[in-house]
Formats: sequence, structure tokens, C-alpha cells
Amino acid sequence: GRVVVVYGGTSSERDVSLMSGGAVLASLEKNGIDVIGYDPAEAGLPGLIALAPDRVFIALHGRGGEDGTLQGALELLHIPYTGSGVMASALGMDKVRTKQVWSALGLPTPQSERLDASTDWDALADRIGLPMVIKPVNEGSTLGLTIVRSRDALKVAWERSCHYDHAVMAERFVEGEEYTVSVIEQQVLPAIRVEAPNGFYDYEAKYFSDETRYLLPSGLSEHDEAELAALSLAAFNAVGCEGWGRVDIMRDAQGGFWLLEVNTSPGMTSHSLVPQAAAHIGIDFDALVCRILDTTLP
Ligand code: DAL
Ligand code: MG
Repeated sequence: GRVVVVYGGTSSERDVSLMSGGAVLASLEKNGIDVIGYDPAEAGLPGLIALAPDRVFIALHGRGGEDGTLQGALELLHIPYTGSGVMASALGMDKVRTKQVWSALGLPTPQSERLDASTDWDALADRIGLPMVIKPVNEGSTLGLTIVRSRDALKVAWERSCHYDHAVMAERFVEGEEYTVSVIEQQVLPAIRVEAPNGFYDYEAKYFSDETRYLLPSGLSEHDEAELAALSLAAFNAVGCEGWGRVDIMRDAQGGFWLLEVNTSPGMTSHSLVPQAAAHIGIDFDALVCRILDTTLP
């Protein structure tokens, strides 16, 4: 049957999604699959329905594609799709609520809270401490995120995040090493340690920089790698994720791991992390795309 790759969309990660979806589409075409790409920015859901998909590969990032809305529409249409269902997609999009679930289950995640116009910045700094991360609750790719090192920079950082989202959060900044762990069904792929050029893995470092270093193998001891894998899988399952996803984690100077977020529709660009982790264990990009697509099968 026909596969439709949905990509582009209207979120602020549109450009990333065009890269992800373009790569997925090209791969499926190359493998002789009856596939067509669709950008919901063009004609929304009616346009997608008109293509009569038998299965949908979701390569959208952010709101309107990764947040449970498209997933809900596809459920009602009885069209199988890649990745998490409605609940996990919606929960995973909201970083504060995701962290509340993890905390309730005893999984480590840095202290955080939701902010609003009435937030007392000094009191916030007393509670969470500096440095602190200010970021949109429902965003990706580091958009609108600031690492704040002084009290007087908090309000400006909050205003900056507000351009991206109605909901903004503060989170204790974990100084240390950055890791990411990919999960396909219940298989945990090797962790990748990311070293960004200036210590800040931002939008530029994620998609354009040739200086970002991806350490794979991660350099962790076998024991720590196993601990990180178990933690990541627990985090993935706590949110109720299905199909595939990627968990982002920090490791502090004492070696403690801290969960930051789960991405239920991770990037599939040439610089992206899931394809790198898969390649490391011999699953090339084409095989990875097929494997993810196969997770739509009963
Ligand atoms: N939000 C981007 C696409 C990622 O996590 O890969
Ligand atoms: Mg993300």
C-alpha cells in the first residue's frame, strides 16, 4: 500500500522537518516503496486524506505533528502511523509534565517550574539556583532557549522564550556532559555524547556546524552505559512512548544522569542523532527508515 511521509508543517521546526522528511522520502523512494511526501502547510488534513495513505511516516517536529494532534486525526481515520500514540505524543511535547511523570516515578530530572508574568525572578533564582535554563515548554531544537548565569538576565530570557510559546519554564542547569539515547521499539541503541563547539548544542550546532563532535561510542564505562540505557528506556516507557524516540540526558560532574526530555519524532537529517546511533550498530539509513516504518505494522 501507499506510504505518505508527512513533513514540513507549520511549527518553528519546519525547516528541520523538511530536512528529516526529505531524507526519509528519498530513502523510501530508492527502496522502491510506493511513497509520496505531503506538507500539511499546503492543505492541512484534507490534503493528506485525499492521498489515501495506507500508512503514514510522521517526519514532523513540534506542534501540529509531534504533539498528538495529527496522531489523533490518524487514529480516527484508522490509518497506521509511525511513532508514539496520542497520549505519549502530547505528554512528550510538554516538558514540564513529562518531568512531573518522571519525578513521580523516581526517575532523576533537574528541578524545574513553569513561569508566568507574575514570577518573582529573585525568588526563582533562590529556589532553582544559577545557572538556570529558561526555555519554551513545547519546543524543540533549542529554539528560544537561554542558559542564564545572572539574576538580571532572567526576565530577558523569559521574554525571549515567550516569542516561541505561551508556556515557558525554568530548569536547573546541569553542568556536565550531554548524551542522547535512541530507542526503537524496546531496543536501546548506543548512547551518543555530544560536544558542541562552544559548549552549547544549539540550533546552529545541531544542524549546520561541522565542529560539533559526536562521540560514538560515548566513552562511558560499560557499567555507566548500561545504567544510561536502562534509565533511558525507563524514561521512554514512563511517558508511554511507542515505535521510536530519543531521550536527551545530562551527566553531572559526579557522574549522575539527569533526564531532560523525550523526543517522540526525532530528527532524521544528515546531522541527526538516531541515524548515527543506528549506523554504529550496522543499521544504515535505509534500513533504519524501513525499520521505523515497520513499527506501524500490527
Ligand atoms: N526536535 C528535534 C527534531 C530532535 O529532537 O531531533
Ligand atoms: Mg527536543
